[in-house]
Amino acid sequence: MKDFKDFMTGWVYTDTVKDHFINPRNLWKKEEDFTPDGFGEVGSLACGDQMRVGITVEDDRIKEIRWLTYGCASAIASTSMMSELVKGMSLEEAYKITPEMITDRLGGLPEHKFHCSVLGDKALRAAIDNYYENKGLENPFKGTVAKVVCECRNVTDQQIEQLVKTGQVRTLEELTEKTGLGTGCGKCKAKALQMLEELKHIYNIT
Ligand code: FES
Repeated sequence: MKDFKDFMTGWVYTDTVKDHFINPRNLWKKEEDFTPDGFGEVGSLACGDQMRVGITVEDDRIKEIRWLTYGCASAIASTSMMSELVKGMSLEEAYKITPEMITDRLGGLPEHKFHCSVLGDKALRAAIDNYYENKGLENPFKGTVAKVVCECRNVTDQQIEQLVKTGQVRTLEELTEKTGLGTGCGKCKAKALQMLEELKHIYNIT
């Protein structure tokens, strides 16, 4: 009979991904008395994944972070890594963290799993937004980051532009394969297709 070690060696993930999946850092445990200064929730169970992030803030820096997800191994490992990365960061730095920064620190993710890594940073931004809201202040960083085109998979306009610009994506099918765009509710497809055509025109890609 196969043991646990055999099971894990069959994986295509890096050792860092496995480590964060098996020992996720900063998980939000029910028994823990954690009262966040800011709370964010994104995704939906209808789309197959959901993420909650809570933060405490001191001197405009993230003091503590907790998270909870109904996601796959990649989502768990990515959010665990993100939580390590942003602890101690200024709110501005944390607001601008990207899925690429997280996956780089994980040593990469299988391409078809990249989209699983994007919920964490989105929930973190929602938590920072909520922190400012709770204080009755304007979030000074809002609007300084990319716009989301696919809500279910958190694919942004900047990501799409980069993929088209570098010739990695020419069709909607390729975009879906790379990012997961359109694999939830599907309502973003028409907009994404229009963007694709415009970008191909701008960057002269046939
Ligand atoms: S917005 Fe739901 S699949 Fe893109």
